[in-house]
Amino acid sequence: MFDSSEFVKEAKDAISRTLGSSKGILACSGGQDSTLLAVLSNEAAGDSVLTVFIDTGLLRKGEKERVEEIFRGYRLNYMILDESDRFIGNLKGVADPEEKRKIIGRTFIDVFSDVADEFGAEYLLQGTIAPDWIESGGGVRDTIKSHHNVGGLPENMKLKLLEPLRDLYKDEIREVSEFLELPSNIQPFPGPGLSVRIIGEVTREKLDLLRGVTDIVETEIQKHYESEAEKPWQFFAVLLPVKTTGIHGDKRSYGLTVAIRSIDTSDAMSGTFTKMPWGLLERISTRITNEFGEINRVVYDVTNKPPGTIEWE
Ligand code: XMP
Repeated sequence: MFDSSEFVKEAKDAISRTLGSSKGILACSGGQDSTLLAVLSNEAAGDSVLTVFIDTGLLRKGEKERVEEIFRGYRLNYMILDESDRFIGNLKGVADPEEKRKIIGRTFIDVFSDVADEFGAEYLLQGTIAPDWIESGGGVRDTIKSHHNVGGLPENMKLKLLEPLRDLYKDEIREVSEFLELPSNIQPFPGPGLSVRIIGEVTREKLDLLRGVTDIVETEIQKHYESEAEKPWQFFAVLLPVKTTGIHGDKRSYGLTVAIRSIDTSDAMSGTFTKMPWGLLERISTRITNEFGEINRVVYDVTNKPPGTIEWE
């Protein structure tokens, strides 16, 4: 039986024992896992750990502001860097999903290596959890996809890796977060961000479009479900490289397609698509096509995991 207080004690001991008098930088995406790790590390090692949040340009609307509020609230030693030009530049012309993930992983490491040099850090703390490395080929299964925080690490990386959450599953992360009175309902968001929700090449224009559409999906779903318990576990939009014929005004249009994905699960290892009310889907679809003239078709993903993964790439 998993015991949160026991885990917190052991994890803090492990962090301070491993760091000793060395310093570490912590890669925080603002998600549940790395935010929990940031708070744990701050309790274990104080200012010897620098929490770094990178604006990759692949984030959702308001994400940076939300994360900074948490960092300030918990009085973390933190830094927020705008590296969007570097990430988007490195992704130029790349359409293959694994290639995108690896490029993003490498770019993260380049940025973190620079910050680590400046801070004098020897360790890189990462909020990797069990499903990340199991699905990245670290377990008995084949690589399903290279999660950025596992698949993209170069073998000659100077920083030593410290992953205190690596044996935990999502439901256990939630338990520990509640135990530490951290928000336990942060919707998961992948490290490679919106780039794995744009099928094909990533461009600034597509990112802006998907950011707007994602905001509609999140706002409408959050508004519809009153309690946290009823809310689907994860919900988002995917921009497809598929154009279809439609009508805008009274004219023929030839526009883009957006897929809506919503998943119910407790650990992200398997899950079922949310049987959400038609009225809610209709509101989302109508808002998207009304507010974004370049989109004329919205589809709902009715695939469970497995066989589908949660993210499309
Ligand atoms: P999949 O798509 O593998 O996703 O079924 C399972 C959960 O993991 C999230 N995800 C990621 N999280 N780095 C992360 O930290 C990543 O590279 C990554 N890829 C997927 C996904 O959003 C879902 O919650």
